[in-house]
Parts: sequence; structure tokens; C-alpha cells
Amino acid sequence: MEYKIARIPGDGIGPEISEEAVRVLNRIGELYGHTFTCAEVDAGGIAIDKYGDPLPEEQLEICRKSDAVLLAAVGGEKWDDLPVDKRPEKGLLRLRGGLGLFANLRPAIIYSELKAACPLKDEIVGDNLDILILRELTGDVYFGERGGDDITYSSDLMNYHDYEVERIARLAFESARKRDKKVTSVDKANVLATSRLWRNTVNRVAKDYPDIELNHMYVDNAAMQLVRNPRQFDVVVTGNLFGDILTDEASMITGSIGMLPSASLGSTKLGMYEPIHGSAPDIAGTGKANPIAMILSCAMMLRYSFDLETEAQAIEAAVKAVLKNGARTADIAAGGKSISTREMSDLILAELK
Ligand code: NAD
Ligand code: IPM
Ligand code: MN
Repeated sequence: MEYKIARIPGDGIGPEISEEAVRVLNRIGELYGHTFTCAEVDAGGIAIDKYGDPLPEEQLEICRKSDAVLLAAVGGEKWDDLPVDKRPEKGLLRLRGGLGLFANLRPAIIYSELKAACPLKDEIVGDNLDILILRELTGDVYFGERGGDDITYSSDLMNYHDYEVERIARLAFESARKRDKKVTSVDKANVLATSRLWRNTVNRVAKDYPDIELNHMYVDNAAMQLVRNPRQFDVVVTGNLFGDILTDEASMITGSIGMLPSASLGSTKLGMYEPIHGSAPDIAGTGKANPIAMILSCAMMLRYSFDLETEAQAIEAAVKAVLKNGARTADIAAGGKSISTREMSDLILAELK
């Protein structure tokens, strides 16, 4: 079968890791008899340079017409002084909003081989830690109205509708049903009106899921509990901003931000798959980027947009195997011997046979 992918290499390390993802997809295609056709889409800084816009409408249109979108990363210092609405990151937000991708699945899974790269003590992390963080992706302060002059006064409106909370809450309970049947909803209901709406709505949805254990946690406490006792979490559901911050924190438990993939899903099969990290300008062009978050994002694409579970698992098993054999990019080498982006993906390709 043929699958149409809109590929967005973006900026910084984006093109480097995106190239490795394509090699892995082509290998899966050869092995299992699929064709993955990639249409290259410009978004982010590169699109600002080419068209003066971080996501021109026709580029978004290519994504709309595809079966899935594979995004590496956007952003960089060169565009940092532009107004917020013209920055590379705005292109990413327009993709998420324009494609209606309200749910961002960020699985924080620790590979036991990588325990040395995790800054927490072994007894805190234990074995097989597996947390699924569900981040709401098209609401909150990211999409509220902005105002002010940036010099004497500024404002960003944090807002949520009940239906936005309800759909992500349902997904959290449904996901928990297939896992350890526990949902932790994270908010700041002791201060924020949007969080009170969040909590009330989650409680209402919970009535349909009596088999799932639900607890609520304030976001400041959740940030602390993630490093104190990450094993207490199964599915975590939270708003856009809190989810952004907590997932970077959770990624370190897995050894590096270079390990965490994500799936951004809406109400159709068209999803966007993106590592949680950024364009890492500090290591762009050095061959040091870890391609694993990007490659695992391809596995999520095969699973959620194409229903190719066997193929998704083949990629995940190949990643596990190379880590088991000791392959490490610099970010997960804990000061030991490290290999390049290309060498890491070569090893992953070699495991796919
Ligand atoms: P970042 O995630 O790009 O980098 C943070 C740190 O993690 C850096 O030291 C970087 O070298 C390291 N790192 C990130 N990915 C890595 C990988 N795959 N392998 C090895 N090390 C890796 O975050 P930042 O520095 O805050 O942001 C840089 C730019 O990226 C900014 O313009 C930001 O807006 C943008 N950004 C984009 C996305 C996205 O496109 N989805 C996500 C986050 C940040
Ligand atoms: C992420 C990023 C983005 C976000 C930025 C670049 C807009 O940090 O995907 O986690 O905040 O959502
Ligand atoms: Mn982020």
C-alpha cells in the first residue's frame, strides 16, 4: 500500500534527523511491501526565509492532503527577534491548530539499558517505567488572544472550553483502560479558573469510567513528584502549557530529551508525529543529534495513522536492540564513548531485517 507523508525537516538539527527517519521508513517499506511517499513541506525558519511566512497556506494544504505529517523541529536564534506571530514556532502552532490536532501523546518509557543516563537513582526509577503524558494541544494560553505592546504591558489569554477538556479527558481514560487503569489529572485549580473548569470536567467524564482510578494533582506538586517517585504515574493528562513543561522534565527520566517521540492526534487518522525536543541549535551540523526521538515518532505514525502495528513494533525493537548493544549518541553516553547521528541510524537500520 502507498502512504503519503508530508515531511517537514524544519530548522537546526531538524533536516539531519528527518533524513534518518526517511531511511528507516524506506527500510520498513522494503521489508513489509509498503511505499512511503514523502512530500517536502517548508515550515518554520526556512519558510520565513523563503516566503516571509512560517507556514504559507499552500504548505499547510500539502499537509491536509497527506495521510500523516512528520515534523522534525523548527526555530532558531536567527528568527528570535521577530514578533511572536511571525516566528517559526507560530508555523508549528498553525499546523497543530489547522489540522485540529488536540491530543499530544508523549510516552516517557525508560529503556533499562539507559539507566546510567538517567540522573535519578536506580531505586527511584526501578524497571520498565512507562508513563503516558497526554498534553492538550490546541487550547490554553497557546491559542488565546495576546495583547499589549511588549514593553510596558503584555497579556496572553489562558482559556478553555469544556468540550476541549472533555475530549482529551476521554482519551486519557480510554488509554488508561489499555494500561494500568490510573489517570492523574494535573492542573492549578487552587489559583486558575481554567483549571477549575478542567477539574470539574475531568470529574464529570470520570463518571463514565468507574473502572479507572482518578487523582488530581497541582502542577507544582506534579513537577516535584515526577522526580521524587515517577512510578506512581500511569496516564497523566494536562493542559497545553503544563504538558509542555512536564514532558521536558519527564524526558530526562528516560535519559535524554533526544529519546522522546510524540503523536499529535485529532478526530481523523491524519496525525502529526514530532519528537518533543526542539531544533537544538547548539549541536546543529555537528552530527551529535540523537535521531531516536524522531525514529520512534515514525513508529507512532505507523501505529496511529496507518494501523501498521507490526511495523511500529519492529522499529521499537530495533531501537531497543541497538541500545542493548551499547550504541550511544553523546546525550545518552553519560560521558562514555559516543557515536554520530548517522552511525546510530545505520545501526538501527541494520537491526531491521
Ligand atoms: P531544544 O530541545 O532544541 O534543546 C534543548 C537542549 O537539548 C539542547 O542542549 C540540545 O542540544 C539538546 N537536545 C535537543 N534535542 C536533542 C537531540 N535530538 N539529541 C541530542 N541533544 C538534543 O530546546 P531549546 O534550546 O529551548 O530550543 C531551541 C529552538 O527549538 C527554539 O527556537 C525553540 O523554540 C525550538 N523548539 C522547537 C520545537 C519543535 O519544533 N517541536 C520544540 C522545542 C523547541
Ligand atoms: C514543543 C515545543 C513547542 C511547544 C514550541 C516550539 C511552540 O516546545 O513541541 O514541545 O511549546 O509546544
Ligand atoms: Mn516543548
